[in-house]
Amino acid sequence: MMAQAHSALSQITFAVYPCNSDSSFRRSILKTNNVRFHDKSWISVSDFDLKTKNVVHSRSQRILCFSVQQASKPKVGVSPLLLEDPKEPPMHLYKPKEPYSATIVSVERLVGPKAPGETCHIVIDHGGNVPYWEGQSYGVIPPGENPKKPGSPNNVRLYSIASTRYGDSFDGKTASFCVRRAVYYDPDTGKEDPSKQGVCSNFLCDSNPGDKVKITGPSGKIMLLPEDNPKATHIMIATGTGVAPYRAYLRRMFMESVPTFKFGGLAWLFLGVANTDSLLYDDEFSQYLRDYPDNFRYDRALSREQKNKNGGKMYVQDKIEEYSDEIFKLLDTGAHIYFCGLKGMMPGIQDTLKRVAEQRGESWDEKLSQLKKNKQWHVEVY
Ligand code: FAD
Ligand code: A2P
Repeated sequence: MMAQAHSALSQITFAVYPCNSDSSFRRSILKTNNVRFHDKSWISVSDFDLKTKNVVHSRSQRILCFSVQQASKPKVGVSPLLLEDPKEPPMHLYKPKEPYSATIVSVERLVGPKAPGETCHIVIDHGGNVPYWEGQSYGVIPPGENPKKPGSPNNVRLYSIASTRYGDSFDGKTASFCVRRAVYYDPDTGKEDPSKQGVCSNFLCDSNPGDKVKITGPSGKIMLLPEDNPKATHIMIATGTGVAPYRAYLRRMFMESVPTFKFGGLAWLFLGVANTDSLLYDDEFSQYLRDYPDNFRYDRALSREQKNKNGGKMYVQDKIEEYSDEIFKLLDTGAHIYFCGLKGMMPGIQDTLKRVAEQRGESWDEKLSQLKKNKQWHVEVY
């Protein structure tokens, strides 16, 4: 399903039309622009609203009338559009005492072999019965007894929803999670103890299509995407699975055709993970970079592959420091900033922002309380 969405997105962003038909030259241009072409890419120029972008020089430096032109991007149609109608987000439609019984559609490992740990993309079918908005979470009640209260069901665990309200199949019937298996390491040996794995994350990552899963919710308002100004700036900071709500925002901004939300602002994603193999949804995000270079920025901090300027691990806060001037200016002009993922990142991020503010002769405490008052500051860490 992801592949299907992706190919729809990548059809196609550029039309190249040569004066002559030198196909080797044409190939070299395509390579230079790093665009994946399918047969369908050779679309009629008149089908699209095209603007001339470049004049390309031939190998012999003669100017040829090759033009690389950017088309308006075809987006994916979504339904039912009545999901746009309510003025308020759906809240707590299903509670722990009477959860909704949803069905697993697919479970897909997201990370490569060198990632420390495992993260899975899990699609569940709620049949359109548990609608939600981008930025909300569902609860999951894993099967089995609560070890602390024998005879009672397990406690609810929350998971940010990683899909838009239309789901990965664009029909409003599914929701997706990005789940990292919780692993317990024995403090004496430092080795993984399989008998103490996290209950719910392992249940979800081990589930199979057709399995039932009890869900509650949706819940959460703090991470809803403010849509009053479609030209707003959204600065999104994530560690690991904290990227989930941003995947949803970015699909709504760049992948889906939503008649009532035409995004024309700036979305800037900072993603912190361990290494290249741990990157999450990187293909999807890289595609937006190619398709919407004026509206999307994407910076990755690979803690175990890159070093910060002091020779330590490269964390998201180091990237924030690198771009602090721009970030502060954007915040001053009303940008929203979001933090999602590891609780442990917040003290480091706050220290960085405080240091930068002081260097700029500003009081961080005052700035922070202003950002909170203006509803520009959104935090969901766990
Ligand atoms: P639990 O069984 O609850 O165990 C918790 C931890 O204790 C684990 O690390 C486990 O290894 C360790 N442990 C288990 N047994 C022992 C023992 N005997 N001794 C010592 N330690 C032990 N998670 C995601 O992956 N993706 C998300 O998108 C996401 N979104 C969230 C959104 C919100 C708002 C919140 C609050 C949390 C979110 N979480 C998310 C975290 C999620 O809710 C769970 O906390 C997480 O999956 C761990 O649950 P679990 O049942 O697997 O682990
Ligand atoms: P590390 O584990 O190398 O210390 P993942 O889910 O891929 O592990 O992503 C979580 C990322 O968050 C990792 O790169 C992890 O780095 C990083 N991380 C851990 N602690 C912090 C922290 N205090 N501040 C920012 N990033 C952190």
